[in-house]
Amino acid sequence: PSPIILRNLAVPRFFGAAANTTFLYHDVNYTEVISTQFSIFTPENEMKWENIEPEQGIFDFSAPDEIVHFAESVDAKVRGHNFMWGNQLPAWVNTSLSATELDRALENHITTIMNHYRGKLYAWDVINEMISDNAPNETFKDNIWTQKFGEEAMPKALTYARAVDKQPKLYINDYGTEGINAKSDALYSVVSSFLKDGVAVDAIGFQCHFTLNQIPDTLARNLQRFADLGLDVAITELDINLDGPANATALAQQAQDYWTVVNACVQTNRCVSVTVWGVSDDHSWIPNGEVLPWNAEKQPKPAFYAIADAF
Ligand code: XIL
Repeated sequence: PSPIILRNLAVPRFFGAAANTTFLYHDVNYTEVISTQFSIFTPENEMKWENIEPEQGIFDFSAPDEIVHFAESVDAKVRGHNFMWGNQLPAWVNTSLSATELDRALENHITTIMNHYRGKLYAWDVINEMISDNAPNETFKDNIWTQKFGEEAMPKALTYARAVDKQPKLYINDYGTEGINAKSDALYSVVSSFLKDGVAVDAIGFQCHFTLNQIPDTLARNLQRFADLGLDVAITELDINLDGPANATALAQQAQDYWTVVNACVQTNRCVSVTVWGVSDDHSWIPNGEVLPWNAEKQPKPAFYAIADAF
């Protein structure tokens, strides 16, 4: 039988994974799967601020370059991840800069990195996890960016990014915004105001870190309402935590849940990609969660066949 290649079944969409240089070329079976199944990659940690600019003005492109070169070698695209986030920041960013200094640091960070990758990246998660979990009482998360810049934080990053390079799709990425709820309503109004004011944004990423049997039933409708704003949408960090033992029932439900998420993307004409946050259960950011479509032996799980079926 011909092998199932998810990236081929996904066309015209991309099927992606978070790629991690800790395992790439170091774990043979991981490298085999990641080399064949995916048409787009997001560096899991390599482009985050603490890794790519650990000291002010000192950039380390070695690990992210490894992923970009790998992606080119397998004819896959890359989503940059990320520019503005409250986590994985080096101390020099997260502590003592004045607002003016932080603004210059942000612009320099975005400009230097986008120039380095000019012509090579499909998209950037310019914004990551900036919407508050306490919407509607509060719109933006409390972090260094909103402390220093208030509601101007997101427009600043998006505007700097667009000024450097018109080509990559500029994303606002978040979690907890997958269904229609107070947080996604807050995101929707922020994005609507950006579009009205001419702030650069091309697309919305929905992380989709889900727990078994808890896929929001408004997922497809929610993707569609953002697409109807004239934006691309994408599933950017999909995994499904069993939150219990990996018996046959749980793995079948996990497969059903993967199908539901991929199908929601397939039903949305502007949903451009589905990216899973890792490849195999042994290398997931969620320990012992058995959250991914390949098991620790890099064998396809029921979820793998469900993804194939949904595409
Ligand atoms: C996670 C990585 O998977 C881990 O390896 C790291 O220790 C912490 O960050 N939302 C995001 C991702 O946007 O960048 C996070 O990745 C997972 C949650």
